[in-house]
Amino acid sequence: MDSEQQWSFEMLLSNAWFEIIAATLLTILIFATSYRPAWWFWTGTSHKAKVSANEEKHDKKCQKTVSNVPGPHPLPIFGTRWIFSYIGPYKLNKVHEAYRDLYRRYGALCKEEALWNFPVISVFSRQDIEAILRRNSKYPLRPPQEVISYYRHTRRDRYTNLGLVNEQGETWHNLRVALTSELTGASTVLGFFPALNVVADSFIELIRRRRTGCKVTGFEELAYKMGLESTCTLILGRHLGFLKPDSSSELATRLAEAVRIHFTASRDAFYGLPLWKLLPTSAYRQLIESEDVIYNIISEIVEATILEKRNDAKDESLEAVFQSILKQKSLDIRDKKAAIVDFIAAGIHTLGNTLVFLFNLIARNPDVQAKLYEEAYSLAPSGCDLTIENLRQAKYLRACITESYRMIPTTTCIARILDESIELSGYHLTAGTTVLLHTWIAGLDKENFKAPERYLPERWLTPVSPHSPLLVAPFGTGRRICPGKRFVDLALQLILAKIIREFEIIVDEELELQFEFILAPKGPVSFGFRDRS
Ligand code: HEM
Repeated sequence: MDSEQQWSFEMLLSNAWFEIIAATLLTILIFATSYRPAWWFWTGTSHKAKVSANEEKHDKKCQKTVSNVPGPHPLPIFGTRWIFSYIGPYKLNKVHEAYRDLYRRYGALCKEEALWNFPVISVFSRQDIEAILRRNSKYPLRPPQEVISYYRHTRRDRYTNLGLVNEQGETWHNLRVALTSELTGASTVLGFFPALNVVADSFIELIRRRRTGCKVTGFEELAYKMGLESTCTLILGRHLGFLKPDSSSELATRLAEAVRIHFTASRDAFYGLPLWKLLPTSAYRQLIESEDVIYNIISEIVEATILEKRNDAKDESLEAVFQSILKQKSLDIRDKKAAIVDFIAAGIHTLGNTLVFLFNLIARNPDVQAKLYEEAYSLAPSGCDLTIENLRQAKYLRACITESYRMIPTTTCIARILDESIELSGYHLTAGTTVLLHTWIAGLDKENFKAPERYLPERWLTPVSPHSPLLVAPFGTGRRICPGKRFVDLALQLILAKIIREFEIIVDEELELQFEFILAPKGPVSFGFRDRS
């Protein structure tokens, strides 16, 4: 295909009319073949398995069910995904704002409809969110990213299953036990503390070198490098030097960019019409290209690490996670590699964005920053190493981080497929229903937190009613909780404590948020880092 042909093909793909024609063809294809999306089966199977005779009676008695939940007008077959298309009111990079608006319009529960009018219920009220969070399923179901599941099915050379993030049921449970027991252990993360100190020092050095005056422009890129370096050190058990200002950090930039594209393409495939099932749409192509880039780069690093470790003396506590994954007899080498790739990819942007949000809130609140500095300096003055014991005493610092999760979390909601029916705000939702628990929106509601618009770390030291701590769940909850949580908690505490002892953080530009499947800052983000005298 020459470049002119390629160009007109791209034009065709991005054309709204083409989407409508292709969507019609998709419908015909779905009718004409036996193809059904994965969720088609879940509703049936999990629902039938769980709905008892009593519940069926209840269904009949109960006036309001999923079909009565209010929401935007659905089209036959295509549901409500049009609201994020050319003709709809919302933009894909502002999905987080769309949900605020849906809450304002429809109240505690709002129904979107995916392909085949499959309902997705947004839950905004504290009582409803807590009712679901308090349930403790054995195998919690999180809706998988369909497009990634589809691609992984086609790559048996790389994947024997969908991976920890997208698998369900017993397969998920076996992977979870095999892959994360070491990673989530308290002693593993403690053993990692000296290495994390090295990462934090390199990060500070990188900030110093990137300053013009005291200003760093494009700070988010440095934050992604820090996310990559610290996650790689944890998972692979060696420092890769991504924070050094030399050629290896170019690799970090490529990897971080691929992860960003992967997130945004996942968002477009999820919230857009599912035309990728019919044709390789631009979102689909971007997604598999970025998946390949991530896989190839991290695979090479893994191979090099294995080779190096055969020759090198071992640092056992630093290599604990890597060795525990490699030693798993129950897993195929493809599972081990894919897990390492997934872990590292999961840590780059989540950690980077969280740091940007945290610094932004602290810089905007000079009183908080002054208190934080006082605490960090009193624990161990600048130049002295910080110990785990120091961090244990740093209550205000931890409160600053928790408050930042409440105000600007990286993940704005928790997604689940109900494995039992439940009554929410007067509606009966059956097992198999997909729910999005909007913890962020609820955490900014004055019904749930006093003065919710204010950054007040003090509320986590002396709670003032109303106060709803369960709503602050940036790592999810239950058995499917993020396995990186313990590590991220420690990494953020150490980095924040060290940075605040060295610099006063200054911000003079507004932070613009955009939705990239996770919440992200619109770059370039600038911060001032003024040396403390
Ligand atoms: C600030 C950083 C991070 C945030 C905010 C975050 C957030 C989350 C959230 C909300 C979930 C879904 C949990 C649920 O459904 O209940 C999740 C799952 C997951 N995260 Fe993280 N994460 C972060 C960093 C990491 C890191 C560093 C790793 C790897 C070491 C990681 C690996 C994973 C994996 C593998 C899952 C899927 C777990 C499962 O389904 O069993 N995350 N994360």
